[in-house]
Amino acid sequence: MIFWLAPGFEDGIIWHITCNWVVNMMRTLSRALAQSPLLSRGRRLVEQNSKNWDSALSKYDKLFAGVYLILEDYSRGLFPPRFEDQAKAYAAEVDYRSHIPGLNETIVRRTELSKPFWVGRAVEKYLTQFIHLMKLLERLNIAPPARLLELGCGTGWMAEFLATAGFDVTGTSIAPADIEDAGARLRGIAAKGLAVQLRFQIAPMESIAEAMGGRNDYDAVFVFEALHHAFNWRQTITSSFKCLRPGGWLLICNEPNLLHTFVSYRVAKLSNTHEIGFSRGELTSHLRQVGFPSVKYLSAPLHFWIKPHWIAAQKSR
Ligand SMILES: C[S@@+](CC[C@H](N)C(=O)[O-])C[C@H]1O[C@@H](n2cnc3c(N)ncnc32)[C@H](O)[C@@H]1O
Repeated sequence: MIFWLAPGFEDGIIWHITCNWVVNMMRTLSRALAQSPLLSRGRRLVEQNSKNWDSALSKYDKLFAGVYLILEDYSRGLFPPRFEDQAKAYAAEVDYRSHIPGLNETIVRRTELSKPFWVGRAVEKYLTQFIHLMKLLERLNIAPPARLLELGCGTGWMAEFLATAGFDVTGTSIAPADIEDAGARLRGIAAKGLAVQLRFQIAPMESIAEAMGGRNDYDAVFVFEALHHAFNWRQTITSSFKCLRPGGWLLICNEPNLLHTFVSYRVAKLSNTHEIGFSRGELTSHLRQVGFPSVKYLSAPLHFWIKPHWIAAQKSR
């Protein structure tokens, strides 16, 4: 028998059976907890939220709803999410606007186009982050009219602001609706009579180099709160590297840390989008592997897997 020819084979089988047993136990326990009265509030909130995206949830409500969903889906083998089908992931991002429960596309479009001018807290958050990006560009000596390429630009608020500040900006997104609406920003600028260098293009970030026709003279490629939506973030980094001139920078801006996979699971499920968190280690290791010799961390050193990443990686000169 082959068992006798392969030393340690029985150990392997015993280990495999033990692991399966532990996982099954954990799944049963998760299911029991999810269905228990302890989490009935979470269950109710998820039901309510899946009909209405805008239902008012406090911090605790979100916690209850998130814990319920994670336990329930873990018990069914759905959590942590696995993303295996690129076409499906792309279609979900493209159709995102029509998947938000209780909101129609006109409302979503209006919201996206008025970004970042939402409620006070959001305005403060986004403008602070925009200032952070401007200061980062200054610190790296990337000054107007430097050529910037944005990945996952949404309807292009950052691209518009940067172009207004004098940069030569190309904003890209996988979603045709984003690019169509970004056109309204272009018309707004034209109506003001401003001469700016700004354009938008549909492009999946995983193959950004091909989408840009092999152009490799960008001073910086940046991605703000969108890399975690990529179907394949490693391919995105590899492809971005090819778009940069020697000495150019890849800026990873406010991309979520590991905890995000848990915290945003409810939102990802509701909107049918791809939401994951990154570890600093995995980002760094891929950046180095692709060929960025210099990687700078711009967020707190003690990030405890919670604080978002701000990373600047420079291509060799
Ligand atoms: C959370 S939004 C952030 C948008 C923008 N950075 C902002 O601050 O408004 C994520 C964006 O990434 C885009 N996206 C998702 N997956 C993508 C992909 N694989 N390639 C390119 N864009 C993608 C979405 O269509 C959306 O525009």
